[in-house]
Amino acid sequence: MGSSSNQTTARVHVWDLPVRIFHWSLVAAVVTAITTAEIGGDWMELHGKAGLAIIGLLAFRITWGVVGSTHARFANFAPTPAKIRSYLAGRWQGVGHNPLGALAVFGLLGLLAAQAATGLFSSDDIAFSGPLFSFVDQSVADRLTGYHHWLSNVLFALLGLHVGAILFYAVVKRNNLVIPMLTGWTVAHSPKPARKGSVFALILSIAIAAVAVYGAGSAGAAVHAPAAVPAPVASETATAVPAPAASATRTTAAW
Ligand code: HEM
Ligand code: HEM
Repeated sequence: MGSSSNQTTARVHVWDLPVRIFHWSLVAAVVTAITTAEIGGDWMELHGKAGLAIIGLLAFRITWGVVGSTHARFANFAPTPAKIRSYLAGRWQGVGHNPLGALAVFGLLGLLAAQAATGLFSSDDIAFSGPLFSFVDQSVADRLTGYHHWLSNVLFALLGLHVGAILFYAVVKRNNLVIPMLTGWTVAHSPKPARKGSVFALILSIAIAAVAVYGAGSAGAAVHAPAAVPAPVASETATAVPAPAASATRTTAAW
């Protein structure tokens, strides 16, 4: 199949299992977060859980992007101006995310992080608040809730671009990128040697993801408690004067 004369074509294991599991779990969690947010009501509880799962997945991917396998590493696909120029000139021949795709990947990861982070402080002013809502002033929470809404529109646009680009590659460029994201394998010209991620790196990434989820989630369990106390001065609770009674409830609720 290799078209150029002096190049060899080889099968390359481009996406390791952690990257593939990350991607398809992320798709499931983001679809769940978006759907539940649209339905609202009782589904917001699940919205928060999907959001926490996304935080864990992002923490995992960021760590794996530093310590993981060659093609999973951010440094390996960092879209430098030189690489973007060579890609636009049709000269780029790397393995993994192409320089423009890499821009989208960083955009998606950053946007999802901002979306999930603002969600932690958001409230629908009815029944559901993010786990860190009570840690900030109402005015700050309102602003962050506003960002949470606004960012979701940017996210929809970027997701449309992401899936559109994958479709464009499949239909116009006749290069199906979904198969490598499912099987891990692709075909490349003269690939450079690559290294697998170590078991230690995998354990580290999972541990950091667990800490991230626990940090945000358990704080939530603690902070939801004061809201349940039938306090006549609800606004004061929200402005975070940690009354002794409230902190006592926090401790009980957390453990
Ligand atoms: C909620 C929806 C989605 C999100 C948030 C999302 C996010 C991402 C992210 C963050 C990456 C980078 C992977 C990494 O290096 O870790 C990626 C890559 C990729 N995604 Fe998605 N994705 C979504 C939906 C989809 C769908 C529906 C498809 C299939 C039609 C798809 C196909 C791919 C492929 C093929 C790649 C690798 C692209 C390449 O070869 O450079 N994604 N996606
Ligand atoms: C990347 C993950 C997330 C996505 C894509 C997302 C998406 C959305 C969207 C689209 C809305 C607007 C719903 C509407 O009124 O039409 C929303 C609202 C909301 N989200 Fe998220 N969210 C995410 C993470 C989180 C997290 C982690 C939390 C907290 C644990 C959270 C808490 C909330 C709350 C409280 C609202 C209601 C805000 C209001 O009604 O004004 N979100 N989210």
